[in-house]
Amino acid sequence: MRSHIYFDHAATSAPKPVQVTERICRYFREEGLSAGRGSYERAEKVGREISVARTSLALLLGADSPERIVFTHSGTEALNLAIQGILRPGDHVVTSVLEHNSVLRPLASLAERGLIDVSYVQPNEAGLIEPEAIQNAMKPETRLVAVVHVSNVLGTIQPVREICEVARQQGAFSLIDASQAVGHLPVDVKQIDCDLLAAPAHKGLLAPLGTGFLFVRSGVEKELQPLQFGGTGTKSESHQQPDELPEKFESGSLNVPGLLGLSAALEIVTPEFVEQESARQAELTRQLLEAVERIPGVKIYARSASLEKRIGVVSLSVGQHDPRVIGTILDEHFHIETRTGFHCAPKTHHWLGTIPVGGTVRLSLGHSTTEAEIASVIAAFENIGDSLG
Ligand code: ALA
Repeated sequence: MRSHIYFDHAATSAPKPVQVTERICRYFREEGLSAGRGSYERAEKVGREISVARTSLALLLGADSPERIVFTHSGTEALNLAIQGILRPGDHVVTSVLEHNSVLRPLASLAERGLIDVSYVQPNEAGLIEPEAIQNAMKPETRLVAVVHVSNVLGTIQPVREICEVARQQGAFSLIDASQAVGHLPVDVKQIDCDLLAAPAHKGLLAPLGTGFLFVRSGVEKELQPLQFGGTGTKSESHQQPDELPEKFESGSLNVPGLLGLSAALEIVTPEFVEQESARQAELTRQLLEAVERIPGVKIYARSASLEKRIGVVSLSVGQHDPRVIGTILDEHFHIETRTGFHCAPKTHHWLGTIPVGGTVRLSLGHSTTEAEIASVIAAFENIGDSLG
């Protein structure tokens, strides 16, 4: 079997740590139960393990208590809950052109039905959203400011703390899409001072696909409507949805194998691990940027963002070549796996001017990326630069 060089960690982290895959396999081999329902020891044990995962995640994110973490099946589900759950007819939303479709599309759907109005803020040349730009877009009826923590196309780290402060001063709720940030750099909800923060758990947290979460600041749950109603395994004598967190937003059986995988992952992804990985991946990103930008014809987007303001997500183009062609050459000739195209972030590509050429080639680093792999990708781009001129 050929060896693959995986540069698509922004899509999902791979390979998952063996402790994660082992825990999931053991679940299917020996347990296979639901959690939070059965009144027998084995189901309670699985439920306790999921509670431990909730506690570990709350600690990692600096949340006040574990119930502030609502488990979802994806980052998209968490963002939909936040957006559709907090907005009311007549509201205005400030967001940015750097958002992923998991923010843009729920907003567009509400706006197309005439329910809300949306303003899209542009970043500066370095791919950074300035808090003043958010401030200038605010209106008296602005109820929500929704901003991405790290652009999934450019890798630029947004000043989310300052942006949340602007939102709060104007009486709006703040929602951070931390999909590309969690696990790649320290994320502390107290420090950011956000009302809502959503992310998948299968990216930087190294859990399997099918896992995600929404952090809900204390008190915000009163304003947040569930999108789904149903069984929670609590207050089952009532036909009404419980008000308590996390049950208010966790109807239906949990993704038990996924969350047990997350539980195992969070034994690895500790605050110390995130600090170390953040520094290690920053150094690898530096090596990649500094070598690849010297290759004639290669253009790196948002290159003027300093190393402190970016993570290991790099978008580039080679001359006027279609990024899909470059992606295919990387894969077929060098076994390097990237994501090309628009990365579900159409407004980012409109802003970059990369829609007519078919988007960009995106390289995204993660926990399994090595220095040798960075050297291989640099060599591949030197080769492509020579061949394609
Ligand atoms: N949002 C993920 C990405 O950027 C899937 O690839």
